[in-house]
Amino acid sequence: MAYMNDVLSVVPQSILLGFAGIGALFLGSKALSYLQFFLNVFVLSGTNLRKYGKKGTWAVVTGASDGLGKEFASQLAAKGFNLVLVSRTQSKLQDLSKELEHKFTHIQTKILAMDFSADNDSDYERLTELVRDLDIAILVNNVGQSHSIPTPFVLTEKKELQDIITINCMGTLKVTQIVAPGMQQRKRGLILTMGSFGGWAPTPYLATYSGSKAFLQQWSSSLAAELKSSNVDVQLCLSYLVTTAMSKVRRTSALIPSARAFVRSALGKIGTGTWQAMPDTYTPFWSHALIGWAAETFLGTGSRILRSYNLKMHVDIRNRALKKAAREAKKQ
Ligand SMILES: NC(=O)c1ccc[n+]([C@@H]2O[C@H](COP(=O)([O-])OP(=O)(O)OC[C@H]3O[C@@H](n4cnc5c(N)ncnc54)[C@H](OP(=O)(O)O)[C@@H]3O)[C@@H](O)[C@H]2O)c1
Ligand SMILES: *[C@@H]1O[C@H](CO)[C@@H](O)[C@H](O)[C@H]1NC(C)=O
Repeated sequence: MAYMNDVLSVVPQSILLGFAGIGALFLGSKALSYLQFFLNVFVLSGTNLRKYGKKGTWAVVTGASDGLGKEFASQLAAKGFNLVLVSRTQSKLQDLSKELEHKFTHIQTKILAMDFSADNDSDYERLTELVRDLDIAILVNNVGQSHSIPTPFVLTEKKELQDIITINCMGTLKVTQIVAPGMQQRKRGLILTMGSFGGWAPTPYLATYSGSKAFLQQWSSSLAAELKSSNVDVQLCLSYLVTTAMSKVRRTSALIPSARAFVRSALGKIGTGTWQAMPDTYTPFWSHALIGWAAETFLGTGSRILRSYNLKMHVDIRNRALKKAAREAKKQ
């Protein structure tokens, strides 16, 4: 301590004050960021969906027949939006359409079965026809595929690589080009795209999925700036695990919500991501937001620590998945 005092006594006062000032600014900015985070996540509610269209206007949901997409469709129907349901399996779409029209008698639905991995122009032409005269208030770019299990990149099957990029990236781009011009003309609308923590931070063993979601992040934030002057909101929605077929997690916990709880927050918290590093990006579920805020504030999403944690987590998931597959193979 005495030594420290000796050292400090030879440093000019103005320099000491300068360093103290930098420290105070740093701590002050973290405290402000925390305050902003706290208010956004626990106090404020998001943009009211009525801003985008009154009851009877339409919402388009891709990947609508299961998981988060099915919840987006149901919760938007409950708010009085008519639904265009786009997904792979015709029978699941028919069931959902019937269920929604039965439960919410005042809404209409239209369905379109298409396989986004086929990237077939005639499917996009059918979608263009289907939505041509509709007043679309909301587009939920939800369709997505991940790796069947975490896999080293060099061992990933060609078809899986191709499908992930075609569905997640090309599908989202092409659907948005069909829907966005109408929103621009009407000067209102919301384009909500499902990102993922897998793309927010580099994710070894899900490298291609990680890249596809990082692509959506950059694309969505860019598009948001382009459409701002047309009063169209573009938001990237981030999530850690949710209990759906994709995550293969069945039991909910504080960190892993049900699809219903996740989508309730996703629709209720639009615009509350002002604390995030990337603009027009939000992490609606509170515990995910807590991880996101801590990581962005103290580590950065490109942090080596975060990446090595991610590596270990996905190697573990892979090993468990391989063991389970081996057990099941033995049973047969
Ligand atoms: N679950 C999570 O933990 C998690 C975390 C972060 C981000 N996300 C993102 O959230 C979104 C939804 O994920 P989820 O967990 O709800 O997935 P999911 O349960 O696997 O559901 C995917 C939906 O997309 C449809 N779909 C899949 N491949 C398709 C294709 N080739 N063509 C047309 N439709 C297709 C499926 O149709 P069928 O019903 O016909 O199979 C299903 O309706 C994805 O973008 C995902 O990346 C999920
Ligand atoms: C695209 O879909 C149309 C109509 O279903 C079909 O006739 C055509 O063969 C498909 N094209 C390709 C390249 O698969």
